[in-house]
Amino acid sequence: MSGKVFGVALGPGDPELITVKALNCLKKSEKIYYPATQSSKGNQDSFSLVILKQLDVEEKKFIPINVPMSKDRSHAVKAYADLFLKVQKDVEEGKQVSVVSEGDISFFSTFSYLLEDFRKNSVDFEMIPGVPAFILGGSVGKLPLVTQNDKLLVAPDLENKPELKALLAQNQTVVLMKISKVREWIKEFIEESKLQFFYGEYLGTEKQFTCTDMDSLRDRQIPYFAILIFYGNK
Ligand SMILES: C[S@@+](CC[C@H](N)C(=O)[O-])C[C@H]1O[C@@H](n2cnc3c(N)ncnc32)[C@H](O)[C@@H]1O
Repeated sequence: MSGKVFGVALGPGDPELITVKALNCLKKSEKIYYPATQSSKGNQDSFSLVILKQLDVEEKKFIPINVPMSKDRSHAVKAYADLFLKVQKDVEEGKQVSVVSEGDISFFSTFSYLLEDFRKNSVDFEMIPGVPAFILGGSVGKLPLVTQNDKLLVAPDLENKPELKALLAQNQTVVLMKISKVREWIKEFIEESKLQFFYGEYLGTEKQFTCTDMDSLRDRQIPYFAILIFYGNK
């Protein structure tokens, strides 16, 4: 049998939100590589592993891809280069293996960093999509993301209020992800603009918290696994 690597989307957190195709692929895979961040003290953290452990898949197949928490991108680049070599060897040995990502597999996903090497080296691969966090946000918030001719824009972090204002002038819905710089000014922006919004952290998990009012958001520390959906220009 010839080997193949699958990029498998796990969905946003709720283990029932993985697709049947993705789960079947994980069951058939001999190895399952998952991304994990590693702090300077050596502690490992992986949202993907939390999801994986709730699925009906053998834990002995799980292998972490440790990416050190650092602003220096060279650590991540090395981690992905090492992962590529491992996966290439697996495929050459005729194995079926998976590399997983939380949410969707082509949407801000680790798997994207491997594609160029797979293509250049003729490594056979396939991608299995999944539910991204912001799509779950639309359902949990019970607020349709878009209807009719609405335009939706997804922005990974923004520098300042004018930037968000400009995006909201051109789109009915703006989704903010990978929030870090935004933390410093977003609450002020919401107070000033009085726009309708949905805030969701750890969506689909036991730690899920959501709100649509400023009183609930005001004193909240916004974590990395959080999104904000703005319903503007309607
Ligand atoms: C590297 S991106 C991964 C996106 C993911 N592949 C997807 O399809 O949603 C990480 C960002 O996605 C968002 N995110 C992912 N999962 C989430 C969840 N369960 N709840 C809230 N936000 C989430 C956060 O904004 C986080 O900073």
